[in-house]
Order: sequence, then structure tokens, then C-alpha cells
Amino acid sequence: MLAAIMLLIISCSSPEDVDPDPIDNSNQPIPLKELFKDHFPIGAAVTPNHMDSRTPHGRALIQHFNSLVAENVMKPDALQRVKGTYTWANADRIIQFAKENNMLVRGHTLTWHSQTPDWFFYDENGELHTPEVAMKQLEEHITAVVSRYKGDVYAWDVVNEAMFDWDPNGQIIYREDSPWYKIMGPAYIDSAFVYAHRADPDAKLFYNDYNSIFSWKRNKIFDLVKRLKDNNIPIHGVGLQGHWNVGTSIQDLRTTLELFRGLGVEIQITELDLSVYLSPNEPGSTTYTEQFNMRQRIAYPEIFRVLLDYSDVITGVTFWGIGDDASWLDTPGRKHFPFLLDEQLQPKPAYLEVQRLIRR
Ligand code: G3I
Repeated sequence: MLAAIMLLIISCSSPEDVDPDPIDNSNQPIPLKELFKDHFPIGAAVTPNHMDSRTPHGRALIQHFNSLVAENVMKPDALQRVKGTYTWANADRIIQFAKENNMLVRGHTLTWHSQTPDWFFYDENGELHTPEVAMKQLEEHITAVVSRYKGDVYAWDVVNEAMFDWDPNGQIIYREDSPWYKIMGPAYIDSAFVYAHRADPDAKLFYNDYNSIFSWKRNKIFDLVKRLKDNNIPIHGVGLQGHWNVGTSIQDLRTTLELFRGLGVEIQITELDLSVYLSPNEPGSTTYTEQFNMRQRIAYPEIFRVLLDYSDVITGVTFWGIGDDASWLDTPGRKHFPFLLDEQLQPKPAYLEVQRLIRR
């Protein structure tokens, strides 16, 4: 009887009367991937030992995320520590887990000055390789890695952190102390994208960097991406790493998103972690204080408000970890608590603020 009355009420109401997405006043956390399903995939950086659904990390990944990236095991030193000898097992575990759980995989990273074995750069006498030798080795590495994961990795950080970081006068464009740059100037950047595209024409190719929302760096990155596009180099987007803190300028973020939207490239937030400290000078803590909680309850929804405003061009947001139990930022006596999940991998108050932002 009750069901019949309900049916009558619903069938009598006009479409406008039916709220498809009612206000959610509950404090029950909704999985992150559900929250963001109409906007962008939501990812986490992982290690191979997370790839087990019987562990808390495995369960949290399955519950909340629909995209993964390897925090370390797809970098050159992990895949080809010895020239010509590839070690795939760890990376394969991530791919396998992602497949089993219907997740996307981002690849990080093909070309970097760091976590890259010396043989890429130096000969047996310790001299820098010629550009020809170094380029050939880069081509072989990229071709092998991208080919192996063709169809499994949908997006690659093809080149990582190639721009000079701090230069108020804007005189130094590239990271000139990179062995890649020392050997051949910026030519390696262009070539890396060409090699990756040849190996998997369907993969989305990104340039990825940190401090990329700040005025001293974003214009250099913009100029690089524009130059590559103008020269028909296959680049599809820019990765803004997102190693920010609770005081990071929302205006800088907005300005940067606006800038790259104008360039017609995809944008991904690739390494999001929001430290609870306003500056490196603040005393460290290993306790998640009420002050930290309040800061993140304000900062996290502010950041996501901006990201949602640009969700037409943002094609992925990836946290650089899973929960506050482990972050590359942490040092003894100083934990950064940078995520939406706490040390037990449970939603924090900041998580619920983000949820309210989306479900209001
Ligand atoms: O592999 C060794 C292991 O054999 C040894 O037992 C262990 C002991 O400390 O060290 C291991 O290597 C560490 C590796 O992480 C794996 O845990 C390195 O010392 C450590 O330096 C390395 O740090 C990584 C860092 O990149 C290296 O530059 C971080 O985990 C990783 O989060 C970080 O990620 C980078 C992105 O790739 C690019 N953007 C910045 C971001 C943060 O620095």
C-alpha cells in the first residue's frame, strides 16, 4: 500500500520536483571515487606491497581510488638499473592489481635526472656520453617500457622536473645541472615525447613538475609546453605535482589552471599532498593537533573548489600516497599528515568537508 502511494506521488511530480542529487547531510563518508565520479579519476601513489586486497592499504585503495601510480618502481633505476636488464616484477604487480580492480594506471616516469642510473649518462671512464649514445639509450628505455605497458598505462609522465626551480629574474630556463641537459641541452625533452608516442600512440603524454603553480616557474613550463605543441611534438598535458601546504595560494592555483586551459592541454594534479605546516620553520609534531585539523578542514575544500571549477580540463587528481601513516615528506619528529585519510586510513574531518563541498 505504502509503495503504491509513493509510486503515485512520484508519478504525479514534474521532473523539476525530483532532486536527482539530494542534499547529503549525513556524515557517512562516500568513497572518494564515488564523490568525484562526474569530475575526474582519483588516484594514489603506491608501492608493490600495497597490492593485496587482504591488507588495510589494499582495501583502502579498492574502496576509494580508481587510478594508481607507482611511487618509485616505474622509475628508470627500478626498471633498468643495469643496462639491458629490465626488472618488471614490481611494476607488473601494480598493473595486475589495477586490472583486477578496474583502475587506471599512470606511468611515472620515463625521463628524469634523479633515480636514473649513472650508465644512462656516463661512460666507463666517468665521462658524459655523446648526445648520440645518450639519445639512443633513452630511446631504448622508453620504447621498452612504454611498449610493455601499452594499453595498460593510459598516461605517462614522459619528462619529469626539467625546468630550473628558483630564478626570480627568469634568466635560467632549464635545469642545467641535469646530466640530460649537460649532454644535449633541451633536445632530450622533445625526443622523449616522440619515442613514447611511437611506442604507444594512444597513451596520454605529460610533462610533470613541482612548484608549477608559482609565478617563477609556471611561465617557463607554459613556454616549454607551447613550444612542444607548436613544433607538433606529441604532448597532451601538463602534470602539476601538488606538493602544497595548508597555506598554498588558491589564487596561484587558479591562475595556473587558467593559463594551461588557454593552451588547450589536459591538466592533471599528479602528486597531491597538503602538508599541515605553513612553513618549514614551524616546529614539527608527530601528533595531528586540533590546529592541523582546522587548517586542513579549511584548505582542502578550498583547493578542491578550484579543481572542480576546472574539471573540464582536469583529467585526473592523484594523491602522492594513500593515508597519513606514510608520506615521503615525513622525517623523524615531523609528520606532515598530508592526506584525506588518517593514519588508520579512515576519512578525516577534512574529507567530510570536501564531501560537503560536492554534495551540498
Ligand atoms: O630502494 C631503496 C631500498 O633498497 C632501501 O632499503 C631504502 C632505505 O632507505 O631506500 C630505498 O630507496 C628509497 C626510495 O625512495 C624507495 O623507498 C630512496 O632512498 C629514497 O630517496 C626514495 O625517495 C623517493 C623520491 O621520490 C626520490 O627522489 C620517494 O619515495 C618518492 O616519493 C619521491 O617521489 C618524487 C616523485 O618521483 C617526483 N616528484 C617529487 C616526489 C617527491 O620527492
